[in-house]
Formats: sequence, structure tokens, C-alpha cells
Amino acid sequence: MRTIRTGRAIQAWARERHASGQKIGFVPTMGALHEGHASLIRAAKRGTDAVAVSIFVNPLQFGRHEDLIQYPRPVAEDVRLCRRQGVDVVFLPPVREIYPENFQTKVRVRKLTERYEGQSRPGHFEGVTTVLAKLFHLIGPDRAFFGQKDYQQALVVKQMVRDLDLPVKIVVGPTVREMDGLALSSRNRFLSSPERKAAGALFKALTAAKSLLRTGERSAKKVRDTMIRRIGDEPLARLEYAAVADAATLDELRVVKGRAVLLLAVWIGKTRLIDNMVIACP
Ligand code: PAJ
Repeated sequence: MRTIRTGRAIQAWARERHASGQKIGFVPTMGALHEGHASLIRAAKRGTDAVAVSIFVNPLQFGRHEDLIQYPRPVAEDVRLCRRQGVDVVFLPPVREIYPENFQTKVRVRKLTERYEGQSRPGHFEGVTTVLAKLFHLIGPDRAFFGQKDYQQALVVKQMVRDLDLPVKIVVGPTVREMDGLALSSRNRFLSSPERKAAGALFKALTAAKSLLRTGERSAKKVRDTMIRRIGDEPLARLEYAAVADAATLDELRVVKGRAVLLLAVWIGKTRLIDNMVIACP
């Protein structure tokens, strides 16, 4: 496995792979890798011939008061995980390599980023799409792999790819969870042990809402109220938003019909967690 730190070297690597007729799979990450990332790497291995993983804690997608400095960076461990998973190249650029002095360009997807994560974290998605536009351009992947865990992010990336005719297929893999349903996240390591228990409330709230839909309830308000109540039942949890939205447009629903997504953002102490569930309602 190779470790590459410069844009020029990763471009050369990608050019060689393409010249020998190989399809490139790409898994962009911010490191602190866990089984969620590993599942995407395995999907990339199955679907392509050469797999690149980027590890880059992207300052552009963090708000001023967010956890950029505290964001975990266990690089040696991450590199070991990549090697074990059979990754071909790890791209580990320093910040200056991606954003040289006098960097001025941003890529922004509009409507899809206006609500939920975009509203709670102004500038966040602009940071995500800008770095991904650069990474896609450097690596030229045939397929790029994203987790359903960040549902809105996956939709925003698909929209950018469509709008800019980027020649990459976006593949979305299922959310990997702990035994109690908590979605794996690099931020889970910040939870104290009582907080870790409390974090189970997100999955419980989503499951309760899903059950209600399964019994035939179609009022989005009732479904949303169920999630709000479940989060409210957990003293260590503070709700930021709960939504019932169209799974393709993210428009908030009044009557749940077709493919819907339940979205949650919840603070557990000082840690912000998000989760979602997609449900097909006849
Ligand atoms: P990061 O949070 O490291 O996540 C990298 C990828 O792993 C994302 O596609 C995310 O959805 C996926 N992922 C995270 N937790 C998961 C889980 N429990 N199950 C399945 N997939 C999971 O998302 C980012 O980094 C950044 O925004 C990035 C796309 C790299 C741009 O900087």
C-alpha cells in the first residue's frame, strides 16, 4: 500500500491506473476510521480494481465554534486499518496542499443545503462540496463511496455530480451501527459512559417513528412528535432538529407517502450526533 501526500503524486498514480484499464474506487474520509468507513472500503474493493482512501480533516467544513482542533487524528491506526482492508493508496495531504495560500474558489449546492445540517452548520456543505470537487478532480474515481449515515451529504454530493457532469458514480452504503443501534461515528469517542448509554436514544426515536409508520400512521406531525418525545425522555439528550422529509428532495412532509427519511440531530452533552432512517410508505 502506498501513502501519498501531494496532489501531483496522486494524479500520477490515478493516471497510471486508468492507463492500465483499471477502474478506480474512492472513499473520502476525515480519518478516525471505524467499521463504517471499513464497510465503504470493502464495497469499493468489490466494485472497482484499485481503491484510494483520502484522510483529510477538512477545515473548510467546520464552523468557527466547531470541533476542528479536537477532531481525532489517529493517523498511524488509520493507515493500519487501510492496509488490513487492502487499500491501494492512502492520500494524506497537508492542509496547504489542498488549500494553498490565496485559495479563492468554492463549490456550492443551493436548495438541498438550506435545511437541516446546512441550516445548523452554515458553510458546512460548501466546505464538503469544495473539497470533494478537488479530490474528485485529483483522483478521477470511477466510483466514490459514501455512507447513508450522512444522508443529506450523500444527496448533496449526488446533486453536485449531476449539476457539474462529473464523471463519477456515487454509491451509498448502509449505516453501520453498534449493538444498541447507535450509528458508528468518529465523534462517539467523546461520549462519557452515561452519555454513551444516552446516545442510544437516537436509534430508539427513529425506530419508534418507523413503527408508527408501519402501523399506518401518515401524519408527519405525529411521527415527528414521537421522535421529539423519545429524545425528550432522555435527560442527557437535547434535540436540535427532528424532521420527516421526502427522501429525494428533503422537502418537509405533512402527509407521509412514498420514500421518506426521518432525520435527527441531537446533542448528548457537548457532542453533536446525527442519524436517519429511510422508510418506504405505500
Ligand atoms: P467522515 O465523517 O470521515 O465520513 C466518511 C464517510 O464515511 C462518509 O461517507 C460517511 O457517511 C461514512 N460513514 C461515517 N459513519 C458511518 C457509519 N456508521 N456507517 C456507514 N458509513 C459511515 O463525511 C465526511 O467524513 C466528510 O464530510 C468528507 C465526505 C470526507 C468530506 O470532507
